[in-house]
Amino acid sequence: MTATASHEPQRKDASPCGEEDASRYGRHLLSLWGLDPNVCHLNHGGYGATPLSVLGEQRGWQRRMESNPPRFFMNELPGLLRAAATELAAFLGTEPDRLAFVDNATSGASAVLRSLDFAPDDEILTTDHVYNALRNAVRYVASRTGAVLREVNVPLPVREADEIVEAIRAGLTQRTRLIVIDHVTSGSATIFPVEAIAALGRERGIPVLVDGAHAPGLVDLDIDAIGADWYVGNCHKWLCAPKGAGFVAVSRAPAATIHPLAISHAYGQGFTAEFDKTGTRDASAWLAIPAAIRFHAKLGGPRLRQRNRALAATIAGSISQMTGMPATCSPALAPAMAALRLPGDLPATREASARVHDWLYDRHGFETAITTAGGALHLRISVQAYNEAGDFEGLAEAGLAAGRASA
Ligand SMILES: Cc1ncc(COP(=O)(O)O)c(C=O)c1O
Repeated sequence: MTATASHEPQRKDASPCGEEDASRYGRHLLSLWGLDPNVCHLNHGGYGATPLSVLGEQRGWQRRMESNPPRFFMNELPGLLRAAATELAAFLGTEPDRLAFVDNATSGASAVLRSLDFAPDDEILTTDHVYNALRNAVRYVASRTGAVLREVNVPLPVREADEIVEAIRAGLTQRTRLIVIDHVTSGSATIFPVEAIAALGRERGIPVLVDGAHAPGLVDLDIDAIGADWYVGNCHKWLCAPKGAGFVAVSRAPAATIHPLAISHAYGQGFTAEFDKTGTRDASAWLAIPAAIRFHAKLGGPRLRQRNRALAATIAGSISQMTGMPATCSPALAPAMAALRLPGDLPATREASARVHDWLYDRHGFETAITTAGGALHLRISVQAYNEAGDFEGLAEAGLAAGRASA
């Protein structure tokens, strides 16, 4: 875990998961999001969900854009983007002149990877927990340059953060030119010690790209304290901004010079100028990020994150105990998500994953994620403000049955 961001107000009142939290959070909040009340939403981590108030803010920006498009794009948007970046930078623990918007973590990571130079046999190091889209982006860059993707195994269950750092350390060679590391992994729902890995990179003179797709709004985040060269992330997952609200943050190092995927008029004018101008597009998701930050703060900010995490740990512990389904990591490394290995030796294929997902959804109304970790299928749950313990009733039995029925 990273240091608690000092720029967010810290509340020291009631403990998380106490009585006050039980009434403050839960299903009654579903209507703030407009989520279907007939579904048990246990996969916030998949695509996030945007509250109606934040969507309203986004619509407001769209109306303003369409009221006079030339004026909006030429006179207003440049300043508006920087104002939104200033608010986001304060939330993330970085500075606005080192923060730019992209559509999502995928395009942010591709922008970084495709801005770097690699030579034949250079190695790009990651772990076998890497998100597959990013793995493919590295494979693409490698295929064009002759570089090599090297994946180190981090065995399950992950008990200590040091196991991850040591796996990375053991994978470094004279030819390692880049470390690509997830902040919160998708399939195994594990918080990786990105600060320690960034420090290892600095010690060995190897740049580090952190994929923080899940992190904002899920874990306490202080990007500059992490000290990576590049940090990409999403505001549309746990921060609940509209879809398409990604960002890329760069370190102070001169090596941080990267370019957007679409080169446009501002080429050569510097990092933020280039990313702020990538052709005509709807910037309303980015402009609504400050509204999402306010929404998150209203729900408790750090206290909400702590409550979600504590509830996820409780639920995961009891499902594990009831079913024998092992968790991918110790509670100390778990965010407000948990991944539990499904029984039945299911093949870790898309088809098997879809079968289990659909079985749980069609029979029980559980919207879950069925992920792959350590070569096996896992049931991944998420806890957001609108979830309560009762949402998970029957999930243990259903998970067991789904695993067996789909085998
Ligand atoms: C670890 C990780 N990286 C990247 C992504 C991609 O996010 P996006 O599709 O918003 O680019 C995800 C999505 O779940 C993820 O879990």
